[in-house]
Amino acid sequence: MNARTRVLTGITTSGTPHLGNYVGAIRPALRLAAQPDTDAFFFLADYHALIKCDDPERIARSRLEIAATWLACGLDPARVTFYRQSDIPEIPELTWLLTCVTAKGLMNRAHAYKAAVDANIAQGEDADAGITLGLYSYPVLMAADILAFGAQRVPVGRDQVQHIEMARDIAQRFNHLYGAGRELLAPPVAVVDEDVATLPGLDGRKMSKSYDNTIPLFAGGPRALEDAIARIVTDSRRPGEPKDPDSNALCAIYRAFATRAQGDAYAAELRAGLAWGEAKQRLATRIEAEIGPKRARYDQLTASNQIEEILQEGAAKARALAAPLLARLREAVGLRAPQAGSAQVMRSNAAARVGRFVTFRGKDGHFHFRFLGADGVDLLLSVPFDTPKAAADWVQMLDKAGGAASFVWGPDNLHLRIAEHIGGQAFELWFAHERLAEAGPYANADARDAAMLQLVDALETRWRALAAAQP
Ligand code: TRP
Repeated sequence: MNARTRVLTGITTSGTPHLGNYVGAIRPALRLAAQPDTDAFFFLADYHALIKCDDPERIARSRLEIAATWLACGLDPARVTFYRQSDIPEIPELTWLLTCVTAKGLMNRAHAYKAAVDANIAQGEDADAGITLGLYSYPVLMAADILAFGAQRVPVGRDQVQHIEMARDIAQRFNHLYGAGRELLAPPVAVVDEDVATLPGLDGRKMSKSYDNTIPLFAGGPRALEDAIARIVTDSRRPGEPKDPDSNALCAIYRAFATRAQGDAYAAELRAGLAWGEAKQRLATRIEAEIGPKRARYDQLTASNQIEEILQEGAAKARALAAPLLARLREAVGLRAPQAGSAQVMRSNAAARVGRFVTFRGKDGHFHFRFLGADGVDLLLSVPFDTPKAAADWVQMLDKAGGAASFVWGPDNLHLRIAEHIGGQAFELWFAHERLAEAGPYANADARDAAMLQLVDALETRWRALAAAQP
C-alpha cells in the first residue's frame, strides 16, 4: 500500500460563498490539498442541499457559484478529485447499505436533529414537527460520502465532528457484521484546524448566512464587496479620535487577509485616530488584493459550460474508486454472488501468482497487449499499435507508472473511465490523455463494476509484487 492520505470534504450547495467560507473553509482546504502525499476529494454535496432547501432555482445557482468559487480559488481538478455528489450513484446505494446497520438511537443523538426537536418543544409544537427523514438520517448520507472513497481524514468545522464520529461507528459496525475479519470500510477521523479563526460578520457575530451578516466573496463584483464593508457596524467616533480596534469586525477581517505585522499596523492606526471610513476603504483594498486576481476566472467559469465538463470528468474519476468498492460490498452483504477473482480470492493467490501482460499480433494485423489475471482470465485488451515495440513500450510504461512508490490512480496518471458501448457497459484504461485499452462490453453495470474491481486488484497486486521483487 502507498502512504498517501485521502482527505475528503463536502460543500453543501445551498448558499452563495462569502468571506467567512473563504477564510474558514476554502482557503485552508486548498492548502491542505496542496500538501505532498495527499489525495484530496472535494465534492458538491447537492443531496445534502435538498435537506435544507426546496427551491430548485436556488440549488442550481448555488451549485454553479460554489463550483466556480472553488475553481477560481485554485482548486486544480487535475490534481484533486472534484465532483458532484448526485453524479455518483454509488453514494445513495451505500447510504442504504449503511442505513440498514445504523441504530436508530444513534440518529436520535445527532445534534442537528436534537436542536430541531428542542426548538419545536420550546414553541409548544409536536417534537417532530416539520422534521423530515432526510434531516433525521443525514449523518448516514454523510457517512456514505466519506466511506465510499475510503477517506482517512475529513477536514470539517466543529459542528460536524459528531457526524464524522458517527461515520466511524457505522463503518465499524458494518465491518463487524460483514467484514469477516477484513476492514471493508475505513473508519475516518475528523480534522479540525484550530488555527482557522471564525470570521466575524457585519454585526460582529460569526459571519453566517443565517445571521444575514455576510460579505460576498465574488458574487456582485468588487462593488458588492465594498458595499458590504461599508455596512460593518462601528461606533460613532470621529476622525482623529482614538478607536478601539477590537470594538468591531474590521480588524479581525483585516488580519485574515494580512500578515501579523500588517494587522498590528492597522490596529495601531485605529488607536491613533484613523477614520472608520478610511479604515473600511483600506480593508476593501486589502481583501481585493487577494480576491481580485481570482475574479476573472470566476466570471469566466460562471459564464461558460466548463464547470459541467469538469464535474463530469471528476465523476468518472470518483466512480472508478467507488464502483469497485460497491461491488465488493454487494458481495459482502450477500446481494451478489462472489466473483471469481474478487478481492478475497486475489489476495490468497497474490503470493503465488500475479497477473501478466502479453503482446500479440491481432487478426487486424495490428499489435496489441492483453492483461491477464493471475488465474489467466482476460481482463483488458489494448488499442491497436503499429509495431510490436509500441505495444511492449506501453506495457513497460504501465508497469513503471503503477510500480512507482508515489503511484495513485488519477486523471494525469492512470485512470479508468466508464464507457457505454453498443451492446452494453464497458470501461477504458487511460494514461493521462491517451486511451490505452478497454474491457467489455458487459451485460450490465454490476458485471462491469465487478470487472473494474478485478482489474484494479490484479494490477495493484502485480505492481506490489514487482515492487517487492526490487532489490
Ligand atoms: N454536512 C457538511 C456541512 O454541512 C457537508 C458535508 C456533506 C460533508 N458530506 C460531507 C463534509 C462529507 C465532510 C464530509 O458542512
